[in-house]
Amino acid sequence: MTLVGKHILVTAGPTHEPIDPVRVIANRSSGRQGFAIAEAAVELGGRVTLVAGPVALVTPPGVDRVDVETAEQMADAVMTSLPADAAILVAAVADWRVEPATTKLKKGDGPPKLKFVPTRDILAELGSSDRRPRLLVGFAAETERVVERAIAKQIAKRADWIVANDVSGDVMGGRRNRVHLVTSDGVEDWPEASKEEVARRLIARVAAALG
Ligand code: CTP
Repeated sequence: MTLVGKHILVTAGPTHEPIDPVRVIANRSSGRQGFAIAEAAVELGGRVTLVAGPVALVTPPGVDRVDVETAEQMADAVMTSLPADAAILVAAVADWRVEPATTKLKKGDGPPKLKFVPTRDILAELGSSDRRPRLLVGFAAETERVVERAIAKQIAKRADWIVANDVSGDVMGGRRNRVHLVTSDGVEDWPEASKEEVARRLIARVAAALG
């Protein structure tokens, strides 16, 4: 089982969407699952590009890391990193951003009226791109109806596989994960494991699929 000669593109971590020069909208993603996947792909000999949002993690040896802050920057970095044989989009990308104020919002001016606008959906963009990687894998973070919603995302975003995880517990920011792998052949329930074990298992499947 090898990824020698293959380019694997991974996104990881949260994005930060600025509100003003000192404030951001963030989420609880630690980046651990995505970093573990990048590391596992290097272990199998792949060339790995890791587009990382703001996280406090060390770059796994051999991984080409591109640091970004916002969803827009992450989308640009992903498109610039193509072509890839497989893309595994693990990042918890913000779904909305606001037009940031250029100067610090002051408390005395009262609660700000934030106007949200949608961000680019990187997975959906890749899914319908003419530069689509041969294998496109998304993650689905859900707190209820996990598998049903993962299947809906697989179809809507034209992903080959969706790794669905139930984030109702302490998965986000935590060290273990329990996932379901949704492919065109059906749904596999994987046993709870460390994020490193989930990563190695997923990357072995990626290597097998790329042949
Ligand atoms: N994703 C992405 N770009 C976005 C939002 C999500 O690439 N702007 C990707 C994630 O990296 C993940 C998949 O889409 O691989 C599903 O992300 P998730 O947050 O679970 O789904 P959403 O599309 O944001 O839908 P919802 O918030 O309704 O669950």
